[in-house]
Amino acid sequence: MIRSRILGLGKALPDRVVSNFDLEKLMDTSDEWIRQRSGISERRHIVPGEESTSGLATKAAQAALDAAGLKAEDLDLIVAATLNPDHFFPGIGVFVQEALGCNTIGALDIRTQCTGFVYGLSVADQFIRTGTHKHVLVVGAEVQSTALDMTTRGRDVAVLFGDGAGAAILGPCEEEGRGVLDTRLHSEGKWAKELWLEAPSALLPREEDIDSGLAPRWFPVMNGRKVFTHAVRRFSEAIGEGLEATGFGTGDIDLLVPHQANLRITEAIGKALELTPDQIYSNIHRYGNTTAASIPIALTEAVEEGRIKDGDLVVLAAFGSGFTWGSAVIRW
Ligand code: ACO
Repeated sequence: MIRSRILGLGKALPDRVVSNFDLEKLMDTSDEWIRQRSGISERRHIVPGEESTSGLATKAAQAALDAAGLKAEDLDLIVAATLNPDHFFPGIGVFVQEALGCNTIGALDIRTQCTGFVYGLSVADQFIRTGTHKHVLVVGAEVQSTALDMTTRGRDVAVLFGDGAGAAILGPCEEEGRGVLDTRLHSEGKWAKELWLEAPSALLPREEDIDSGLAPRWFPVMNGRKVFTHAVRRFSEAIGEGLEATGFGTGDIDLLVPHQANLRITEAIGKALELTPDQIYSNIHRYGNTTAASIPIALTEAVEEGRIKDGDLVVLAAFGSGFTWGSAVIRW
């Protein structure tokens, strides 16, 4: 039986570090409030005009290819996840295909926000399991900073998010019991407006928006309490579902790499599942919430730091706008 496994990982972060103290100068907030509510100390923002979502995606993808010892022409498919593409259409997948110099392989974009990487991994896994594709790039990339309301009006959202990209190259693995063992995907669209960005939209006349002061539609809005309670419940469910399907228990997890949504959410999941701190990875203090990029950036750093070793049982879990959620169980 062919399974997929991660052959290489890579990340790309803008050089520009934006600390909580930098945000204090733009809006009525404080380092203490941000750290207490989210665990975030700093995040990265691009320099507009110099960097882009597809540019970060390309850098992370190239790093993942290098780590896998592969070249762009070895790829058979690109799966790109982002909530803030360079353009309304086409998606970033095609720009990554061009910038990497791949053959005219398929490139598709995934629009499931914070769960984008888990959805992408699941898609790539299916293509490899069927044997039709050998090497699939899954990349999550986000430029949030250009779409945030950096005034007091938008502070509840603006302080949480950051820019970055992470990528994984998936390839076939025939070793029994190794690789991506299981993936689970879910959605519940009735909560779509609890965490969303209304415009740009095919439903909205753009001139009217700009002229009639409806600019806030162009910034993301979030019902923080609803997101918090649903996130804790769905993260835990998705992890439980993946473990049940593979016959493992929470004690078997060597490392849980959750979407880096908010340290308080991560801690609540750890408590609900009775995990020890060394079973959970977190780097949100450095980068904030980078939505689809957060899991592949975290995976890259967990491997670099020796927190993931060959043979480890690694669980990925995500929850985000949509609402969407999911998990993956991987024997490294
Ligand atoms: N700085 C200072 N004050 C702020 C800020 C800020 N950046 N943002 C909001 N506030 C104020 C609010 O205006 C409110 O003030 P008020 O009481 O005068 O009206 C007050 O802080 C609310 O604070 P809390 O009582 O702590 O509110 P709550 O307990 O609801 O917590 C929070 C808010 C932190 C957003 C919480 O709901 C939460 O953690 N939600 C999860 C949201 C999240 O992490 N999303 C991640 C993205 S989604 C994803 O990845 C899954």
